[in-house]
Amino acid sequence: MPNTDFKRLIRPHLLQLEHFSPADPPEEQARRAGIPEEEIIRLNANENPYGPSPKVSDAVAQVDYSIYPDPEQRRVREAISDFTSIPIERLIVGAGSDEIIDLVFRLVMELGDQIVDSDPTFGMYRFDAAVNGVETVLVQRDDAFELDVKAITSAIDKRTKVIFICSPNNPTGNVASHEQIKALLDTGLLVVVDEAYWEFSQQTVAPMVYDHDNLIVLRTLSKWGGIAGLRAGFGIMNPELINRLFGMKQPYNITTATEAAVIASFEDADYLNCNARKIVSERERMIALLSDIEGLEPLPSGGNYVLCKLATGRAKPVFHDLATRGIFLRNFSSPRLKDCFRISVGRPNETDIVITALKELV
Ligand SMILES: Cc1ncc(COP(=O)(O)O)c(C=O)c1O
Repeated sequence: MPNTDFKRLIRPHLLQLEHFSPADPPEEQARRAGIPEEEIIRLNANENPYGPSPKVSDAVAQVDYSIYPDPEQRRVREAISDFTSIPIERLIVGAGSDEIIDLVFRLVMELGDQIVDSDPTFGMYRFDAAVNGVETVLVQRDDAFELDVKAITSAIDKRTKVIFICSPNNPTGNVASHEQIKALLDTGLLVVVDEAYWEFSQQTVAPMVYDHDNLIVLRTLSKWGGIAGLRAGFGIMNPELINRLFGMKQPYNITTATEAAVIASFEDADYLNCNARKIVSERERMIALLSDIEGLEPLPSGGNYVLCKLATGRAKPVFHDLATRGIFLRNFSSPRLKDCFRISVGRPNETDIVITALKELV
């Protein structure tokens, strides 16, 4: 057999790629904790504790898997359009909003280009930047983790093409204002506003797409819709960009099961909105309970999660002690968040178990 030097074949900028750290599946968490899977408290991935609409499984059961999905995504875009009032020519659906982020990178970025990202935030923007050989200029959010618009605009240079804003921001919960987004749009660069959690804040900049061709808004069915496993997200932007993305995406990028699930979800939006309201009120209850724990400070949040700050050096041991009890939260290694963890909002009984454990451990 010839001896191939694979390293020589790999694109040089990918040789140093730092891996994204995604959430492990529950069976792996259970194995690690040595606890049966049904006893795991999984509050590390911002999933929906109430799951999908019951209509999703019925709809998916009717799908004929032998037929390819519609490459133009007509029915599913119509369903989204009916619900959001966004015209179909401004919509594209992806295998999760992650796929749309990836497509945007591949549409506009060349090796050596730059994005501006506001730290701390969702890691996917800088990960995709690295995959595409694009440099990420990290601007720090302020002490309350609010956007620093002045610092973002000062960080722009001739290589900058896209500004990424996550709102509500994962993991800090901050919601960007219309004024902040407007100021960024005035730079003329592409501004991607990731609204994966907007249903838990009810604040959106989506209507601004009509007046701003450089705005891309991202949404997902993974949080509000509870179908993270089926992979469905969508992008809202000007029709020219939509056409370009359709021209370059994989023709069958979402499955027929995903199409059916998205349509059924929007048909049952009242049910999902009701669950979103339950999650918001549970978030506020959890914040109140967390505030009573000495040595722990929960931050306000517009998402389905709460970031908690602990005393220096305490987050790591508490996080690990919780994991040995089968309670999984999200921790961070970055300098600004090393003393924090994020708790996804679960069902009330899960909140109670976490609060009891935190009272003992913090
Ligand atoms: C801010 C943000 N955007 C996008 C995603 C990914 O969403 P999807 O499951 O639609 O790819 C996540 C997932 O956690 C997220 O937190």
